[in-house]
Order: sequence, then structure tokens, then C-alpha cells
Amino acid sequence: MKESIRVDFEPIGRRVRVDADTSILTAARKAGIGITAVCNGQGTCHQCVIRLVSGKLNPLTDIEKSVFSPQKQSEGWRLACQTIPISDVSLEVPPQSISTQQRLQLEGQQFEGDPAPAVRVVRVSIEPASPMDLRADQTRLKDALETIRPAVDIPIRQLDKISPLLRTQGWQVDLVLNENGTLTGCLGADKRLVGLALDIGTTKLAAYLVDLESGKTMAKMGEVNPQISYGEDVISRIAYANQSDTKKAALQKVLRIAINRLIKRLCKNAHVQPDQIMDAVVVGNTAMHHLFAGLPVRQLGEAPYVPGVSDSLYLPAHELGLDLSPGALVYLPPNIAGFVGSDHISADLACGLLDAGETTMLVDIGTNTEITLRTPLGISCCSCASGPAFEGAHIHSGMRAAAGAIERVFFNSGQWNYTTIGQGPPAGICGSGILDAVAEMRRVGIIDERGVFQPGQAGVEKQGHLSSFQLVPADPVNNVDAIQVTRKDVNEIQLAKAAIRAGIEILLKESQLEANQIQRFIVAGAFGTYLHLPSALAIGMFPPLPEERFFQAGNAAGAGARYMLLVNEFRKQAEALYGRMKYIELTIQKDFQETYMASLLLDNQPIK
Ligand code: FES
Repeated sequence: MKESIRVDFEPIGRRVRVDADTSILTAARKAGIGITAVCNGQGTCHQCVIRLVSGKLNPLTDIEKSVFSPQKQSEGWRLACQTIPISDVSLEVPPQSISTQQRLQLEGQQFEGDPAPAVRVVRVSIEPASPMDLRADQTRLKDALETIRPAVDIPIRQLDKISPLLRTQGWQVDLVLNENGTLTGCLGADKRLVGLALDIGTTKLAAYLVDLESGKTMAKMGEVNPQISYGEDVISRIAYANQSDTKKAALQKVLRIAINRLIKRLCKNAHVQPDQIMDAVVVGNTAMHHLFAGLPVRQLGEAPYVPGVSDSLYLPAHELGLDLSPGALVYLPPNIAGFVGSDHISADLACGLLDAGETTMLVDIGTNTEITLRTPLGISCCSCASGPAFEGAHIHSGMRAAAGAIERVFFNSGQWNYTTIGQGPPAGICGSGILDAVAEMRRVGIIDERGVFQPGQAGVEKQGHLSSFQLVPADPVNNVDAIQVTRKDVNEIQLAKAAIRAGIEILLKESQLEANQIQRFIVAGAFGTYLHLPSALAIGMFPPLPEERFFQAGNAAGAGARYMLLVNEFRKQAEALYGRMKYIELTIQKDFQETYMASLLLDNQPIK
């Protein structure tokens, strides 16, 4: 009988037992983990990347030696299809290697450290009411708190909960105070102190319920931003809000309903009550921030596109209509500019840009892409209109990153291969898939560096003046259309990647740096996590730096929101980042047009 070996997959938390000669790719499949394997284990796609955390694996194969730099090898990076365990092992599966994961980016970086939140629990024991002591409950509580924190306001609405608890808990209650001395609520016996971190993206909401005592994320969840039915991007939503106060209120209302639904589901999963949530941090781009907070948005849609409010805010949860503890405050970090919001400050914070010693660039890719450059001399940022192509929008066969979306495309041994999210039949192509497709079409010569289709290439069809490449043929039996990449799709990708690259180049020029002086290049955001880095480099979306300088950070904005929830000092750091940040408006830079035009080419030459 063959020896059975235990394989643990982290951070997914799955364990499986396999025979001794089973590859990790097979073990992952047995565990129900969809590792991206475009070449189905032949060792040619290099996408089934994993990292050894503990235990022993077979020696590196020649293929792996050619794929990973010596540093990556020493860090334990391997290809799942080339790897066989020779002892019980624990492995890390990075998000970009997972094809079946739900695609609302929720991982971000974990918080490591001791929580020091903006709220604290104060146990108060008071004298019972009696015929000799007829003080009101509110007065009685104020008097008891006087020695701990003078002049605490006890809002009368909170007495609904506190008065009965005083009597059922022997005149002893756990009150929760925030750093300003405001009473945010009261906890029942043995109840945990909980906080909410929320990232409001234009497309997605990502919410985290956090135990403020242990620092652990108790539950996390994502949902599509329901405002999407009023407009795909921030500009169309601002235009909708500008039509009337009622329409602006409707945008706020659908968002509030979705957030409250998320809170309810998070609480159910974590076995807590919404009124245990005593603190919240909400981040988002400036338009989402303003719509959430009920601030004016008209000026965000008109030149020169300034925010209504840049400074950080504390807003009462009940005024925002959120189902938290009635006295909870919601912290909103500062906005940098009309198109660089508190979500980017949050991402910068999570990636340690305030005190970074190395020259670091952070690119947070979305419909709007925000970029920060941290050098030893200062910190600057800009915003580029990268558009929705990387979310699968405005692409002929495009779709969002959901089940059935082609997420990886690879040409090998004369054949086109692809993988889909959920590994089912292809229904369309999402951002990472179209990026791969364009990079591979360029590599094999179907298109040139201008994106022009080359005559006589297999799979290329021409209808009138329009060329397209057929990636997946139609399936008339199942009434499924062909999946094609058109000239217009290639153009959309060129426009998107040129916007990002031009932003990178302008920030570098402003700081008088060359690209190769960037020591850490962090790519954040959902698309930024799942994109295949070699494809992005091949078409020149990022400067040609060694791959080991790149880091894919996941939802850094959500991670930063959790940091600010768990450690009050991080709010001060976010405000310090805002104070030091130099915002560069790209459109008024004299080199911008020229740099943008040069960035349209599908290659990766240095841009002058
Ligand atoms: Fe491992 Fe392709 S599946 S290299």
C-alpha cells in the first residue's frame, strides 16, 4: 500500500491526503481547489505557481529552474504540476494561481500586531436605584463615569438598551467609549467588541467584520455595488445624481440598503449582533465617498473636478442609516483629489508607503487607476482614466470576472488554450483573459505593435474593414456565440494600458527618476491581483523591471481600512499621508499627450 501524505493549502485552509507519488496539481484538484493550469500540467504555461511553507518536495525540475529566479527558488516558489510531496507539506496558493476563487477581492494583507482601536470597553458598576436614591439612570451612569472619563454624554436613545441591562446584570454594564469620550454603545454580558471595515468600489463592495480585541477578521463578504444599475462608472453616476435631488438620494439609498444587507449577513456568519459594531471605517473613491456621505457630487463631474470635502470625517452611523450600535461613529479617511479618494490613501497605508525606505510605486487598477510614487524625497500620486476594459466592459465578448469567464489565454505548440473561472464552458472573456489574449496575439504575430491585425494569420476573420480573431468557435448546438477578440478590443486594451503607463512615466519624470530606480512595484486591486504579470509586461503596461520587484497586493484599500479600524494611530498616519501627498494632474502636464501616444504601442521599450 502506498504511503499517504497530508497536503495543506493556505490561506484557503483545505487539507487533503494523497498517495506519495501524486503531483500537487492533482492534490489541489482532489481538494477542490482550482489552480490555474492552462497547459494541463505539461509545464509550459507556468501559471500553476505555489510556494512551499513547510515540509519537503521533490527537487526543482529543469522547467522550474528556468521559470524562477534564484531568489524565488530560495523563497520556495514551485509549479504545482512539477511538484511531488515527499513529506506532509503546507503550501501557499497565491490568489493569481486560483481560478475558482470568488472574484471580489477580499484577501488584502492580514493585520499583524496588537489592536489599539479608537473605542474601548469600560466596565461600570453603579449603586442600584432605591427609595433613598432616585437618580435617573442617565444621571447615575454619568456620575459613575465621572472618575473614568469626565463629561461623557449619554444619549437618551441608548437608554433603551442600557436601562434593562443594568437591571438584568446586577447594575454592572460594559460601556464602550470612543477616543473623544463619546458613548458609542453598551455590550451585553460576554459580548465581543466588533468593528466594520468597508471598501466601496465603483463596481464592488468589500466588507469585513473585525474583532477589535483579538484583531481577527471574523467574517468578510463582497457584493456588487447596486449603484451599477444607475451607471457603470463614476461619471455616469454623477450625471444621474445631477438630474435631481431625488435621484441623488436614490443612489445613496440603494448603497445604504446593500451595506446594511452585508452587515446583517456578516453578523450572522460571525454570530454577533449588529449593535455590537461600535466602530467603522469606510473607504472609497471620491465619488463613492461623497455619494455614501450624502455630499454634493456635481463639482466632481465638472472641470477642474474638485472634491466637496478632502479632510477626514467622523459621521454618526445612525445619520448614515447604518445598522450599527446607535452611538457608533463612521470614520472616513481623507480624499486626495476629485479622482483620488480615501481608498487610495488606505491602499498606500496598507502597503507602508508613509515610511517606505525603498523607492516604491503602487498602482491600484480599476476603472480609474490611481498611482503613488514614494521616493526618499517625497510622495506623489496621480489618477489615470484606464476605463472599464479590464473589467470586461466595452469588449466584444467581454464579461465580468464570474463563472464561465475566460481568465487565462495561452498559445502553445500551435494551439490556443484557455481556462475559465469555475472551469465550466466559456461564456465570455474577463479582464485578465483579454489582457493575455492581446499579449499572446502580439507574441505570435497576429497583431503588430500598433495593434493592427496581420493578414494571413490563422483564426483571423475579416468582415468589411474589421478584423477579429476567433478564440473559441461558436457552438450552434448549445446556441453559444463564438468568443472573438476584435480590433476594437485590442484598441480598448491599448487605451487602458497607455493611460496607466503614461501616469507611471509622468510621475517618474516629476520625481526625476528612471523606471529602473523603482525598487518595489506593487499592483493592487482585484484585476491587479489576477492579471498575468508577464502579459502586462509584454504589452508595456508596466515598465520592464525584473519580475521579482513586482508584488500583487490584493485589495490593499480594504486591508488599509482594517488597519485603521484596529489601530487608531493608523488614522493619524492616513492623515499624515494626505498632508504630504503631492497630487499631479496629468492632463495639464506638457509631456502628457506625447507620453500617452508613445505608450499606446504594444511592446515594452523604455518611454522617452
Ligand atoms: Fe503547471 Fe501549466 S499547469 S505549468
